[in-house]
Amino acid sequence: MKIGILTGGGDAPGINAVVRAIVRKSIQCYGYEAFGIKDGWLGLVQGDYTRMDMKSLSGLLSKGGTVLGTSRTNPFKSADGPGRILKNVADQGFDAIVAIGGDDTLGVAAKLYDMGLKVVGVPKTIDNDLVGTDYTFGFQTAVSIACEALDRLRTTAESHHRVMILEVMGRNAGWIALEAGIAGGANAILIPEKPFDIDEVCEFIRKRHARGRNFSLIVAAEGAKPKESKEFVYNSKLDEFGHERLGGIADYISREIEKRFEDIDTRTMVLGHLQRGGSPIAFDRVLATRFGVAAIDMVHDGKYGNMVGLQGNEMVPVPLKDVIGKRKVVDLKLYDEAAIFFG
Ligand code: F6P
Repeated sequence: MKIGILTGGGDAPGINAVVRAIVRKSIQCYGYEAFGIKDGWLGLVQGDYTRMDMKSLSGLLSKGGTVLGTSRTNPFKSADGPGRILKNVADQGFDAIVAIGGDDTLGVAAKLYDMGLKVVGVPKTIDNDLVGTDYTFGFQTAVSIACEALDRLRTTAESHHRVMILEVMGRNAGWIALEAGIAGGANAILIPEKPFDIDEVCEFIRKRHARGRNFSLIVAAEGAKPKESKEFVYNSKLDEFGHERLGGIADYISREIEKRFEDIDTRTMVLGHLQRGGSPIAFDRVLATRFGVAAIDMVHDGKYGNMVGLQGNEMVPVPLKDVIGKRKVVDLKLYDEAAIFFG
């Protein structure tokens, strides 16, 4: 059998570990041939692939980014995109495609599956907002990076008696903000699921000052928004899946705090793509490896049209149609547990 592997959407630490596991098990256990497709769905539209052998896997377990390249190409944006993919798959003789991606990439996979493509999905996003899996790989690495940022911001905030606001990724779900905020002892955590009242946030700061704690740490997901307001958009140009670039929530909070407290100095930090770059932590290397192994097993068993999901400690097939267009958002009970430590 010939297997094509692609990675689409934003990269996430651990992608290369998934690729390594798929290729290794393909060749070693099933005698399949494996091909890396360049730059997500774009490579299948354009017919751009390279054969992967065991030698090509050297160093991939810990390597950041994706050696296959990625893009946010949506083949359904052009009339002939899906047809070209199906033709290229047939011409190249691919028997199955493994698509590693988030909601957008897997949404394309689901549509192509309905058109006859034999495809299996692997859940990838640092945002951890895909349903059908307890965790996506890359998320825990992003949380560790954000937590370290909070630890570092704490010492300088304390020295200068400042309020530091850390903006992290999380367009629709605040998982990174929540977990990094709990682990890093943030004095307020702001997430898209729970629109906030800026006066309440300022009240946390006021209370801390009254207790002699004259510095604070706030972590905000990029998609967090004040009550009765929209999220902050950095650039309204839409990508091929209709997403705007978010950004600006930390600056907003900083300005509002300084308006309310003449004597409090604030600073902001946008962590941005530092959360996505570099090596995965051990947890994500293990999870990515397990996802890759399970994905190729699903191909071997003919379980197409499914995504691999981690449920409990088991790898299970989850129908793509049950995953796409949905969001695994933060459970507000968990948020309330975190809120005990605000202020
Ligand atoms: O992959 C999802 C995500 O991490 C979002 O949290 C963020 O809005 C987006 O990627 C930014 O991606 P890029 O800048 O690469 O388009």
